[in-house]
Amino acid sequence: MTIASRFTSLAHIELPLLLAPMAGPGTPELCIAVSEAGGLGSLPCAMLSAAAIERDLGIIRQRTPRPVNVNFFCHRAPEPDAARDAQWKARLSPYYAELGLDPDAPIHAAERRPFDDATCRLVEHFAPEVVSFHFGLPEPALLARVKATGALVLSSATTAAEARWLEANGCDAIIAQGFEAGGHRGMFLDGDPIAALATQVGTLALVPQVVDAVKVPVIAAGGISDARGIAAAFALGASAVQVGSAYLHCPEAKVHAGHREALRNAAADATAVTNVYSGRPARGIVNRMMREVGPISSDAPAFPNAATASGPLRATAEAAGSVDFTPLWAGQAAGLGRAMPAGELTRTLIEDAREIIRQLA
Ligand SMILES: Cc1cc2nc3c(=O)[nH]c(=O)nc-3n(C[C@H](O)[C@H](O)[C@H](O)COP(=O)(O)O)c2cc1C
Repeated sequence: MTIASRFTSLAHIELPLLLAPMAGPGTPELCIAVSEAGGLGSLPCAMLSAAAIERDLGIIRQRTPRPVNVNFFCHRAPEPDAARDAQWKARLSPYYAELGLDPDAPIHAAERRPFDDATCRLVEHFAPEVVSFHFGLPEPALLARVKATGALVLSSATTAAEARWLEANGCDAIIAQGFEAGGHRGMFLDGDPIAALATQVGTLALVPQVVDAVKVPVIAAGGISDARGIAAAFALGASAVQVGSAYLHCPEAKVHAGHREALRNAAADATAVTNVYSGRPARGIVNRMMREVGPISSDAPAFPNAATASGPLRATAEAAGSVDFTPLWAGQAAGLGRAMPAGELTRTLIEDAREIIRQLA
């Protein structure tokens, strides 16, 4: 058995590539295209209502018989903190004034919800072949229900200690997520994710240490946007790769035109880790909100509540064609991505990586 076949044989897929679940840009179309090409497509559910998950999984099951991954966040919802929320609103009030928004109007923000009984029932109903989590694992009773469906369970580790914890608590494969990764860091063992930022490990150093720490297959994630990154991940001992930012260039991704433009022009140093959009550290292309309010702000309410007050700013600015208040999530290698249909990208990435590996041999 080759290193790559350790994960493909477990997940019953052809190509050792997972589409990273990306809450927001991820669509059923993107998921279907990657699964149909032989990789593992993912449906990110963190920002979807139960009804929307049911609709999207229905579409996916209708349009592909291939295995899919369904992804959830499993953070603990924070205690309400009205004083902190008010302080955050005050910090953002100059922007409300600039955009002509009423700061006292009720806000209907898109929430990030943790995995719960209602979403677990959908997993039981649709029985996706793979279920992945971010920020650890759900409580044991919920996890036992997921495992009883026969799904493979994956979660992200940002250290070898997190990888060992996930393996000991039932993960069938570990996603080693390095510092370069776009979006939220999946860190969950350290009490304070902001404090843990300074010590976060890059993919090149993390993957071999996670491979040495666990017996289950390891999936490398973070900064892998072309075939060279994939070949490197296999050399480090990964059994598969999880690619996110590269797929944001695809027509199937739901990405604002301004975000797409920023991705096309993203230099290696265009991104930073910020907490101003959600309250937890996540990597995105530096834009006005990150520059002026962050990138790290001690005023930001706990995850996911920081997103509430910036929601109306984002919606109003986007309607006027601006992404000044939009999280432009992207990894450090986002600029290496090429715009092409997701199925073609999946096949090309793996074919080109195999060619690189052949040339090295
Ligand atoms: C736009 C965006 C949204 C993301 N949302 C999620 C998510 O909902 N769930 C999750 O497990 N990971 C999420 N991630 C992290 C990815 O799973 C993965 O770790 C990351 O994309 C890998 O780094 P790369 O972007 O450099 O390829 C997101 C990443 C991006 C870029």
